[in-house]
Amino acid sequence: MNITIVGSGYVGLVAGACFSEVGNNITMLDSDEEKIKKLQNGIIPIYEPGLKELITNNKEKNNITFTTQKEIAYKNADIIFIAVGTPMDTDGSANMNYVKEVAKDLSQYIENYTIIVNKSTMPIGSAKMVENIINKNLKNKNATFDVVSNPEFLKEGVAIRDFMSPDRIIIGSKSQKATKIIKNLYSPFILKSNRIITMDRESAEMSKYASNALLATKISFINEMSQICEKVGANINDVRVGIGSDSRIGYSFIYPGCGYGGSCFPKDIQALSFIAKQNNVETKILDAIEYVNEYQKNLIANKIIKRFGENLDNKIFCIWGLSFKPETDDIREAPSIYLMQKLLQSNAMIQCYDPQANINMKAIFPNVKYYNNKYDAIDNADALIIMTEWKEFRNPDFKIIKDKLKNLIIFDGRNIYKDIELNEFEYYYIGGGESHYLRFYLESKLHLTNFKKGCNDEAA
Ligand SMILES: NC(=O)c1ccc[n+]([C@@H]2O[C@H](COP(=O)([O-])OP(=O)(O)OC[C@H]3O[C@@H](n4cnc5c(N)ncnc54)[C@H](O)[C@@H]3O)[C@@H](O)[C@H]2O)c1
Repeated sequence: MNITIVGSGYVGLVAGACFSEVGNNITMLDSDEEKIKKLQNGIIPIYEPGLKELITNNKEKNNITFTTQKEIAYKNADIIFIAVGTPMDTDGSANMNYVKEVAKDLSQYIENYTIIVNKSTMPIGSAKMVENIINKNLKNKNATFDVVSNPEFLKEGVAIRDFMSPDRIIIGSKSQKATKIIKNLYSPFILKSNRIITMDRESAEMSKYASNALLATKISFINEMSQICEKVGANINDVRVGIGSDSRIGYSFIYPGCGYGGSCFPKDIQALSFIAKQNNVETKILDAIEYVNEYQKNLIANKIIKRFGENLDNKIFCIWGLSFKPETDDIREAPSIYLMQKLLQSNAMIQCYDPQANINMKAIFPNVKYYNNKYDAIDNADALIIMTEWKEFRNPDFKIIKDKLKNLIIFDGRNIYKDIELNEFEYYYIGGGESHYLRFYLESKLHLTNFKKGCNDEAA
């Protein structure tokens, strides 16, 4: 199949790489000249595990090419995927300008029967909108086309695996012909079991938003539980296991942390809320998800200020992890941005380290110190802060950390050290304001009291 993918970002590149791997002829189109130049020269502009290998391999075989020229990209394409950004607009709605621009371009270039696939996350009614724009402006009156909604569910960090073996593939279509062709296109990825779900286009568009809303609900729910735990003396890490072990609930997406970020949840929740309000539907749950997340994103900064005071003059903080999640360099809406803003506002100095996202963060905060080694970033810091749960942070050499920190204080925004005895450290985590040291102290005092009480009871 000749496939063109418009938009060579996280979704477009992964889709292009995976479709090329199973034998399709892929043309990647992007309006960003610098990005395309990099890709033509074998430089992958984003970090996603496995992506570089797939693209390099298929580029060598000529299965995937990169261009900024629409004419080259659209000529002879059987299927065109729209994978451009749909960022949040100022009113919370999804900004559809990039999609509309592509639809107009398509109307000028398509010639034979073409299937246009809406891959980006787009509001309900967008397939119809793209269809209308193309119909209105269609240059070649003999051209025929179908617009299909096929939302993407990949997770950054494991995007190749998700694309190659998806939980499900949703095809929203009103054309049996288009549905059949798209089903065939995905068949290499679902050899073991049929994971294709077909429905109308509006339901497909809604499914994507509803999925993200439910996942974000789970995150905000557990974070709210962590706030209650902190006040009542319960341990959120135990509570998580206590509730996750219920097969009706499960463990995924109920890990307490310093809030969700990324390019999808924040904007998609807002966009769905906007759509609902436009249709006079009250969105108490959607509003609450956002509200809790805002609180959570500021939580670590608030814990730091509570510990050190409002004025952080001359205080140095070391941040480990800048990306919004591990295994990606994506920092869009990352909680680390909120933390850094707050620390800088309070005159603190920041030293940070991320295995992949230093460069992206430098574009936002150029005057912060970035390190290529996580231990160097700790030198003389007043506290170490964990903002992303990269694997390399999970079991560090605490002896080195101890030697380098000015104060033995850790703020753990991802609860990755919950099972480690950090006796000498003041340890603050999500759902817990006390250090391990304090907890052990209090617990042992309680044991002692109970022990004494037991002895007295026996004596009596
Ligand atoms: N990133 C994810 O994890 C993810 C997952 C599922 C769905 N999505 C959705 O997929 C869509 C794309 O997300 P992304 O993260 O890949 O975005 P991105 O910002 O990484 O990439 C978008 C690309 O589109 C290009 N572009 C914009 N207008 C163009 C035009 N007119 N012609 C050609 N190229 C153009 C941009 O230059 C950019 O390279 C969004 O709707 C997003 O919500 C993203």
